[in-house]
Amino acid sequence: MATTARIGLAGLGTMGSALALNIAEKGFPVAVWNRNTAHITEVIEEAGPLRDALVPSETLEELVAAIAPPRAIIIMVKAGAPVFETIEKLVPLLDEGDTLIDAGNADFNDTRATEKRLREKGIHFIGMGVSGGEDGARHGPSIMVGGDASAYEPIRDIIEAIAATYEGDPCAARLGPDGAGHFVKTVHNGIEYADMELIAEAYGLMRKGQGKSPAEIAEVFGRWNGGRLQSYLCEITEKVLSATDPETGKPAVDVIVDEAGQKGTGRWTLIEALKLGQSASTIEAAVAARSWSAMSGLRGEGSKVFGEADGPAPTLPEDDLGRALLAARILAYGQGFLLLKAASDEFGWDIDLARVAEIWRAGCIIRSSLLDDIAAAIRDGLPEGALHLAPAFREPLVNGAPALRQVVTQSVAAGLPATGFASALSYFDSMRQARGTADLIQGLRDFFGRHGFERVGAEGVHHGPWWD
Ligand SMILES: NC(=O)c1ccc[n+]([C@@H]2O[C@H](COP(=O)([O-])OP(=O)(O)OC[C@H]3O[C@@H](n4cnc5c(N)ncnc54)[C@H](OP(=O)(O)O)[C@@H]3O)[C@@H](O)[C@H]2O)c1
Repeated sequence: MATTARIGLAGLGTMGSALALNIAEKGFPVAVWNRNTAHITEVIEEAGPLRDALVPSETLEELVAAIAPPRAIIIMVKAGAPVFETIEKLVPLLDEGDTLIDAGNADFNDTRATEKRLREKGIHFIGMGVSGGEDGARHGPSIMVGGDASAYEPIRDIIEAIAATYEGDPCAARLGPDGAGHFVKTVHNGIEYADMELIAEAYGLMRKGQGKSPAEIAEVFGRWNGGRLQSYLCEITEKVLSATDPETGKPAVDVIVDEAGQKGTGRWTLIEALKLGQSASTIEAAVAARSWSAMSGLRGEGSKVFGEADGPAPTLPEDDLGRALLAARILAYGQGFLLLKAASDEFGWDIDLARVAEIWRAGCIIRSSLLDDIAAAIRDGLPEGALHLAPAFREPLVNGAPALRQVVTQSVAAGLPATGFASALSYFDSMRQARGTADLIQGLRDFFGRHGFERVGAEGVHHGPWWD
């Protein structure tokens, strides 16, 4: 077989086939392989004029042989064991200096371990987060790369060509070595969880608390999307809420079972946050809400025993709810950026946080106008990546906090859950208390365990008078 391809791609599922077509469309010949070979033929048949840039490979040997050395192969198979299996099969076929790229979602700890193992064999390993769903992969995703600069440089033209652009700037960047790209993608998804939870709670307040119809709420999201809440998620919320189920004529949202899973990335964000001594409480709230949603049997029982929300209906006007959503969104993104900063320091990645915000401005699921402001705020020298302290966010937080408080108090009074909004508000209130209540916690720890504490204005470890 002729070595005609610039790059290879293993795994032609939803994301893999879309990426392959994207690469082909940008003029790079790409060798493609899939475990189920029948699917290779289908993808080639459906590729239309792009088929000339696709090199079908029925075996991994053929795939490797089709790529010009030093070879780069994107692996886009189901996360976890299938990725490890594919790597194991490919490695013996590769030469020193070749590069494997895991473009699926991955636990960055695995990425770090694989990078180290393959480096010892002279093979580069890149962990590459790709966001934007199928449409993004096909027409321009946001791409978060982690790995050696020397491995990224030869494929940078391809990655930047297939990425989304924001005012001409490609939404793709190498963010650091080994697991940096997959870590940033994980936190991206964590923020996505939080953002969707806040949107769902705003919907719940209007639907259950104020009796608005899905179509009316769709219009609210449409109006919000025209202002400072402009974002892909608000845009598609309008679309989902205005859709009608063709079978029943009901709003489409009403025929969907209200159970959401929480797969890898939301959970990974929390685990890593805790390991790093952080708390991404808005993301935690989102993961918790999804876990509770999955317990529909218990919820049904609970509604029979205790009855559903029966408190006074929230009176909050649309504009205030929008202000609260914006404030909570800023706080949720802020927790994500603090987490990125903590990981970058811990692993010595030196992640350019402004660049992260810049490559999230287009292509990815959390793309929003807010990200341009975030990028500018970080470039202006934000302390520790703490978004809530940025001058650009002072006004929306000062104006949004009272509305956020109203959302939480009115939801509580009505008996409606507002897990995400309440977490964002408590984070905000904690972060504006110069002196909190951990003094008592340290006093208690010293009392029962002689742990000692730092004394105000004094050096060293001290004990309380209860030990005299
Ligand atoms: N879908 C999204 O919106 C999205 C967005 C961002 C990231 N991702 C990530 O992208 C990756 C791929 O997702 P997807 O949605 O494209 O998945 P998918 O449509 O379910 O496709 C899975 C692919 O994995 C292959 N595969 C499964 N087990 C395998 C094994 N043991 N050995 C070799 N190949 C195997 C399948 O091959 P067969 O055809 O032979 O079964 C298929 O090509 C995942 O890590 C996912 O988390 C997905």
